[in-house]
Amino acid sequence: MAREKWGTKLGFMLAAMGSAVGLGNIWRFSFVAGENGGGAFLILYLAFVVLIGVPLLLTEVSIGRKAESDVVGSFKKLAPGTPWHLTGFFGIASAFLILSFYAVVAGWAIYYFWNYVNGSFFSQPEVGYDGAFGQFISHSWHPIGWTALFMILTIVIVLSGVKKGIEAANKIFMPLLAILLIVLAFFSLSLDGASEGMKFLFTPDWSALSNPSIYIAALGQAFFSLSLGMGAMLTYGSYLRKENKLPSATLGIGLMDTFFAIISGIVIFPAVFAFGIDPSSGPPLVFITLPTIFEQMPFGGIIGLVFFFALILASLSSSVSILEVPTAYFMRVFGWTRFATSVLMGSIMFVFGIAVSLGFGIWSGVTPIGDRNILDSMDYLASNIFLPLGGLSMALLVGWYMKKATALESADLSTSPIGSFWYGIIKFVAPILILLIFLNSSGLLQF
Ligand code: PHE
Repeated sequence: MAREKWGTKLGFMLAAMGSAVGLGNIWRFSFVAGENGGGAFLILYLAFVVLIGVPLLLTEVSIGRKAESDVVGSFKKLAPGTPWHLTGFFGIASAFLILSFYAVVAGWAIYYFWNYVNGSFFSQPEVGYDGAFGQFISHSWHPIGWTALFMILTIVIVLSGVKKGIEAANKIFMPLLAILLIVLAFFSLSLDGASEGMKFLFTPDWSALSNPSIYIAALGQAFFSLSLGMGAMLTYGSYLRKENKLPSATLGIGLMDTFFAIISGIVIFPAVFAFGIDPSSGPPLVFITLPTIFEQMPFGGIIGLVFFFALILASLSSSVSILEVPTAYFMRVFGWTRFATSVLMGSIMFVFGIAVSLGFGIWSGVTPIGDRNILDSMDYLASNIFLPLGGLSMALLVGWYMKKATALESADLSTSPIGSFWYGIIKFVAPILILLIFLNSSGLLQF
């Protein structure tokens, strides 16, 4: 069977931007920045996006387009007879880990949407928004129902195929989400005490840099937000036609993704400080902050409704790219149909998702890694370790295994003045930085 292809280059761009922009920009960016001191984290995160993220994004897409295969198959094709393809399993594993909790958090967003549809979040519930949220996520099966709904939607899009399903899903709602966020940012900035939040986000407290965990947190956020290191972008690249040019496309994706993160920060942090919310509240942060903002706004109920609808669609366009990673792999290896594969993979992830959800209720005492609950542990392992390892492997493949001319050609940089610059980053800068950050966070090296 011929592999599917994108309809147009724009179709690829939209799907890749859809993959990048999601809960990572709004939910994850805000809480990780909040936990890691704000400004200093933002600087590091931006530095990693520029120095590692965007060059590696180009690398990842170019590997996929050249090999025309999934994350394991691409390594096999480009480095035959080597164990390189084994690193592709970091990607498959991180897809399982990430989608299992992504679906839970996206389920929370659907629940919020529902509360704006029926009006119950138009004004503060008796227990407050944080109380209501706490009660909801700790319930033994309510949130699991919403997780199931989100997972079903994801599976339906993936099983309808690359072009019809994924490409069509996102054309109106990304721009809509951008517009809503800009409106929200202006409103948030007008709140009493907003400047405190802007200071938190934009005035770095350099002493935060002495804490090793900030480096790995910023690296993990750069990878997560750009959908990097898992093979999602690689798999999307594998559906590209050869004539599509990559450098401008990947730069556009990087800029767009960063824009969404910063604008979300400008929405969340002024409000966090204006309403006296703790910026280091962790994963619940935006779910407590946003409804409080909407309540204060004129037409806030409607804005909340549209906002959560757009957020659900942005999450779906990311979750489909995650489910596509193991789906593409298992379809090729076992010859299963797209239908059977996506249903099976999605169902397994849903079962993991049940554990993630219970981690906020009856299993809240379960802390697999450090003092992290189930969601935080899975996120830590996948985003901070597996994704950077996957990215490292791709950088080493292109920088050290491939010939320079082949590497430049597959990234469409043969005749470009920035070619050597990109190559230097992929060969030296990105791998060394990733290794240094790993050493630092494991305590072997202090900076
Ligand atoms: N980038 C997506 C987001 O920000 C999440 C994602 C991670 C998607 C890894 C694919 C691969 O929400």
